[in-house]
Amino acid sequence: MKKRILVTSALPYANGPLHIGHIAGAYLPADIYTRYNRLKGKEILHICGTDEHGVAVTIRAEKEGKNPRQIVDFYHREIKEEFDALHIEFDNFSRTSLPLHKKNSQDFFLTVFKKGYVEKRDTEQYFCPNCNRFLPDRYVEGTCPKCGYEKARGDQCEHCGTWLEPTDLINPRCAICGATPYLKNSSHYYFKLSKLSHRLEDWLKSKTEWKDVVRQFALSWVKEGLLDRSISRDLDWGVPVPLEDAVGKVLYVWFDAPIGYISSTMEWAEKKGDPKAWEQWWKDKDTRLIHFIGKDNIVFHAIVWPAMLMAHGDYILPDDIPANYFLNLEGSKISTSRNWAVWIKDLVKQYPSDYIRFGLTYAMPETKDSDFTFADFKAKVDYELANNVGNFVNRSLKFIKGYMGGRVGPLTQLENEKDRELAALIERAPSEIGGYIEGFHFRKGLQSILKLTAAGNKYFDAMAPWTTKKSDVERTRKTLALCYSLIRALSVLIEPYLPDSARKLRHMLNIGKVPWDGAGNWRLESEVEIGEVSILYKKVEEIIKMEQVKSPEEQPSSEITYEYFSKMKIKIGKIIDAKKVPQSKKLLELKVDIGEKVITLAAGISQYYEPENLIGKEIPVIVNLKPRKLMGILSRGMMLAAVENGKPVLLNPLEEVKPGTDVS
Ligand code: 2FM
Ligand code: ZN
Repeated sequence: MKKRILVTSALPYANGPLHIGHIAGAYLPADIYTRYNRLKGKEILHICGTDEHGVAVTIRAEKEGKNPRQIVDFYHREIKEEFDALHIEFDNFSRTSLPLHKKNSQDFFLTVFKKGYVEKRDTEQYFCPNCNRFLPDRYVEGTCPKCGYEKARGDQCEHCGTWLEPTDLINPRCAICGATPYLKNSSHYYFKLSKLSHRLEDWLKSKTEWKDVVRQFALSWVKEGLLDRSISRDLDWGVPVPLEDAVGKVLYVWFDAPIGYISSTMEWAEKKGDPKAWEQWWKDKDTRLIHFIGKDNIVFHAIVWPAMLMAHGDYILPDDIPANYFLNLEGSKISTSRNWAVWIKDLVKQYPSDYIRFGLTYAMPETKDSDFTFADFKAKVDYELANNVGNFVNRSLKFIKGYMGGRVGPLTQLENEKDRELAALIERAPSEIGGYIEGFHFRKGLQSILKLTAAGNKYFDAMAPWTTKKSDVERTRKTLALCYSLIRALSVLIEPYLPDSARKLRHMLNIGKVPWDGAGNWRLESEVEIGEVSILYKKVEEIIKMEQVKSPEEQPSSEITYEYFSKMKIKIGKIIDAKKVPQSKKLLELKVDIGEKVITLAAGISQYYEPENLIGKEIPVIVNLKPRKLMGILSRGMMLAAVENGKPVLLNPLEEVKPGTDVS
């Protein structure tokens, strides 16, 4: 058993808000694990921060017409607020754009460079003739050579998880303009992964206790043969490669991001006024290092990052990487680009954070991909939180308040078989649930809690205190004292999962925090008085209809029904005015007559059409799209055009028709 535990959660890209898949994948399990270990009295840190470099950020910035700094500042704050709203706590939540991280990752690079694990090589890289620039990573899209997915990105295939180089893609195209790029000479810095192949393989083979998905996936990669990988990019956003001849080159984001775990720990140490305190967490073999991630990050955490650590030499290696699978939404893969997601910032407006934590633990993709549905969420909250846990707490405490003057205990001896059965369950619960949490079986841990309160309800029914209160007061006191002990246990056991509920329970019981190992004690040495009793959980009266969650029949799929198609209103509109949008290279603002009215459209055709040539032209327009704001213009529809290699070509009816004519 190691002395201390260092928990990290994948650093989220500061390029967008968090959705339920992120939370169920990495952050909630990490938070549960950390809270549990704190209650066990372990020395533990939970480290995270935003991943602010790389093309995920620069592409977002380009698309929004902003600079990367604006994007990361905005999302760093927003992401932190989302974590706060869910009570996902970190000892430090850092940012990879901090000077401290820049220095740390440059030092890291120089160490592995000097040790001979990095070398400069001449290579060829995609260059877009249209955008006149090199295209790193996600700036290239194409078909995945491994699984055939057509929208694979130049750094990774979202579909099968394969780690790619842009040159691996079949039919590459520029992600910005759609043009076909060509190969141009360039030089880059390569990390010699191949040199560490054997060491990695032996190391992975020794990790027999790891989740299969992680170990097998990583081993299959190593067995296929590890290639040296370029770790520099031609970008002006990122950590500059700290070598004189590396002008204009920054470190590849997946090189600097995991170093961010160390930087964040350094920042934690600085903030607490003990700048060297981070070292024991990264250098002392008595630290157990655990990375919580989603399965799309396995390659980087189970191969590349350990290889980087091996090459560097001063730091410990990960002890475990409990990656989760993917969480689907209503049967379909979550997709931020298709806006098929439930965003945390919306969800927290509708539900208390513990309901969300409960629902996401219940559906956690621990052993396979899982599915989140609102019908399930509602059913489980009603059935388990309200009718099971909440009901047990409420009926017991109300009874104590109403018939026993708010007092219970002492309880030192059990009387009958039912007492003994329930007491035995209470005694066993901390080690049973703790065992599940330690083994990263968070769902099973939650199930055990629910079984415990279900047993409590059964006990309450069987002991019928409402009857015995007339005939046998002593018996009734015993019954309620044992119910009280169960609730006291619950106030501890539930804390890692549902911290708000735990706090409420402590308040109702009028007690302070109890350590984990004390939770199994059902004895009450003396009489105690409970506090104010309130309702713990309400039922979810109706499934919320969140705007961005389409109903199942509206889900995008390759085949759509006639009804689905008929919901789209397409009309012929006549362009009556067109002008350039200031500050936008791409957009034109169009006024389009669609018969009953004139609507405004923002259309991305400015690079291809002069505004004055468009006036009087008839075009097909979808007129019932939800309005969208683009560069300050509220666009109330979308024109349809043919798009060839990213270039829009307008469509025209063969004969002139009246504006507003239906297209069907
Ligand atoms: O997939 C992602 O969201 C990455 N930003 C995770 C980085 S984890 C770590 F290495 F920083
Ligand atoms: Zn693929």
